[in-house]
Amino acid sequence: MLPTGVTVIAALGPAGPAGATASAVCSLSLKPMMMLACLDRGSRTLLAVQGADRFGINVLRREQRPTAEVFATKVDQAEKWATVDWREHLGIPLIEGSLAHVVCGLHDVVAAGDHVIITGDVLEVEAIEGDPLVYHGGLFRTLGSDGSKS
Ligand SMILES: Cc1cc2nc3c(=O)[nH]c(=O)nc-3n(C[C@H](O)[C@H](O)[C@H](O)COP(=O)(O)O)c2cc1C
Repeated sequence: MLPTGVTVIAALGPAGPAGATASAVCSLSLKPMMMLACLDRGSRTLLAVQGADRFGINVLRREQRPTAEVFATKVDQAEKWATVDWREHLGIPLIEGSLAHVVCGLHDVVAAGDHVIITGDVLEVEAIEGDPLVYHGGLFRTLGSDGSKS
């Protein structure tokens, strides 16, 4: 319904990295800096996030649509991660080439219908230049025009 960016929420599980494509992600607080994401109760990545007590938000660039597609599937996590270059940083798997990485300590887990809201304390942010991958109306899109400062 709402146009959103596209991310991969990631955490290190006991069997290795786990990740899921997620668009229900937003900033929550500036002071302290916090993020929020909503994960389906059946998400395997949610289990990894709770086990690791931390998670990463990989904000995808427009060129990373194939990554969004594979991380939206239920194939083995190892199969998902074999399709990307990634590194471990502060105990979190980060996907190389992402527009931004946000490293979070798990703050709270709140049940909400068939999803769970996870909130995170931002430990580190890194961002590079590029255009975001956008999702709207069931389709992956890119931004159509250059932004202007308000
Ligand atoms: C564009 C897009 C956005 C998505 N956003 C979310 C989301 O915000 N939360 C969620 O739980 N699943 C979302 N999904 C679905 C998950 O990516 C999907 O259920 C995935 O298989 C979960 O993987 P896991 O079980 O390995 O964690 C989205 C899928 C797509 C294609």
